Amino acid sequence: MVLEIFREGIKHAFGRRAFPHQITFILESPLRKILIRPGQVADRLHLTETSRVLEVGAGSGVFSVEVARRIPRGLLEILDLQPEMLEKVQRKIEAASSLSHVVAYTQGDASNLPFSDVTFDVAFLVTVFGEVAEPRKCLQGLYRVIRPGGLLSITEHLPDTDFSTFSRIRSVVEGEGFVFTERFGRPWCYTANFRRP
Ligand SMILES: C[S@@+](CC[C@H](N)C(=O)[O-])C[C@H]1O[C@@H](n2cnc3c(N)ncnc32)[C@H](O)[C@@H]1O
Repeated sequence: MVLEIFREGIKHAFGRRAFPHQITFILESPLRKILIRPGQVADRLHLTETSRVLEVGAGSGVFSVEVARRIPRGLLEILDLQPEMLEKVQRKIEAASSLSHVVAYTQGDASNLPFSDVTFDVAFLVTVFGEVAEPRKCLQGLYRVIRPGGLLSITEHLPDTDFSTFSRIRSVVEGEGFVFTERFGRPWCYTANFRRP
């Protein structure tokens, strides 16, 4: 109930659904990094030095730097609906030395991914899925741009106002042809991994 009021308040105050770029201090809070460490999320992506990775809804880049560090000869493509978010994550990447060459930025909608087929080894979303207005279209696009055998990783945690339970995520994602492979964490803070067959 309280979450619902908060969520509606945010939507009302900012007149849209995506998490407002004006309040990214919430995403960056030290308490959140105790709940879910960027290194933990990166560990769960099974990256190699050459992985080609898509981060959907990167926000201010809480997880982006850690992922970019692990793929020195790969690619991290960062997609977000809000240009203000892309500016924030770009500042973080530029402040960390020697990462800019592996990162690209695209402003766009997760429901209409502007990438070629079979482009990525890994795609990941952290507290984004519940915000995407057309989740099935988003998953269909992800299926198209991830290579066969590639990984789709979805992390969700409370108290995100758009939190989705593991069982809901699993049923929607498997409904679009992905195969569930593993889950990490607890029911209120988990990562669910799927493979494109
Ligand atoms: C709650 S924030 C999470 C940011 C980051 N993943 C994190 O966990 O710190 C959700 C982000 O997803 C983005 N987003 C929401 N809907 C989107 C969509 N349809 N396409 C692309 N990005 C979207 C928002 O702009 C926002 O930056």
